[in-house]
Order: sequence, then structure tokens, then C-alpha cells
Amino acid sequence: MYQILKSAHSGWRYLVLILLVLAIIQALSGWLGKKPYTEGNRKVNLFTLIFVHTQILIGLVLYFLSPLVEAGIRYWKMEHIGMMIFAAILVTVGNARSKKGDDPAAKHKAVALYFGLALIVIIASIIQMTMVDPTRSFFGIS
Ligand code: HEM
Repeated sequence: MYQILKSAHSGWRYLVLILLVLAIIQALSGWLGKKPYTEGNRKVNLFTLIFVHTQILIGLVLYFLSPLVEAGIRYWKMEHIGMMIFAAILVTVGNARSKKGDDPAAKHKAVALYFGLALIVIIASIIQMTMVDPTRSFFGIS
């Protein structure tokens, strides 16, 4: 069970990262290019939200199974969960704000800023992970 969830959580990061990058590119091009907010934009943002939340759920179960958390290693006990949940909150708020009002520029802007910040937090946390545990790499799989 632990090994399956660990692999799922490890691989799922790529889907989260790809969707976030895609959503941010769409939002930036919509915002700066003054484009309408399309159904396609809405779906990509929603999928990004769902994939981020799924990763959090897998992480939460893993939290109670991982020997690293059990061992009390600070990064795994506090920092990983804290930063990743913060990133998920940013994505949730960005998606919620993209639903408010009818100004397409404001919708694109909310996604670009909140998702962009979330991506930075996630990347920073994964980089921190590779520093705490040099056996792991940014583009690894376990
Ligand atoms: C967007 C959110 C998240 C991302 C992108 C993410 C990403 C990752 C990555 C890349 C790893 C290392 C996997 C490997 O070395 O192959 C990992 C491990 C881990 N994550 Fe997350 N994570 C997220 C959220 C969470 C949350 C919210 C929790 C806890 C509640 C969590 C708990 C864990 C644990 C316990 C491990 C270590 C598993 C082990 O090796 O024993 N993660 N995560």
C-alpha cells in the first residue's frame, strides 16, 4: 500500500506540473492578448484544480504511512505538507476567482497570478526536497 501510493504520488507530480504550466500559459496569453475566457480555458483550470487536489489526497494518506514522517524528519513532517497545501489553496483561490464577474481579463489574470505563485511554491518545495535528500531528484520517480 505504501509503495503503491508512493509511486502514484511520485508520478502524479508530472501531471500536476504539466497542467499548471499549461493553465498558466493559457491564462497569460488570454490576459496579455486580451482574449475571451473560453470553455476550454475553464476546463483546463478545473482539471488542474482536480489534479492538484488528488495529489494532496494521496499525500495525506502517504503522510500516515511514510517512515520518513514517522522518523520526524522536519522537511517531511512539516515543510512538504505545509508548502504543498499552501500551493493547493492558491490554486483553489485562483480557480474560484476565475469564476467571478464577466471580465475575461480579470479571470485570466487571477489564474495567471495564483496558479503562477502555486507553481513557484511547488517547484521550490521539490528543489528543497532534493537538497534535504540528495538521493531524490526533481525529475525522479520512485
Ligand atoms: C501539489 C502537491 C504535492 C506535490 C507536487 C508533491 C510532490 C512530491 C514529490 C515529488 C515527492 C517525492 C517523490 C519521489 O521522491 O519520487 C513527494 C513525496 C512525499 N509527499 Fe508529496 N507532494 C504534494 C503534496 C503532498 C501533501 C499535501 C502531503 C502530505 C499531506 C505529501 C506527503 C508526501 C510524503 C509523506 C512523501 C514521502 C513519501 C516517502 O518517500 O516516504 N505530499 N511528494
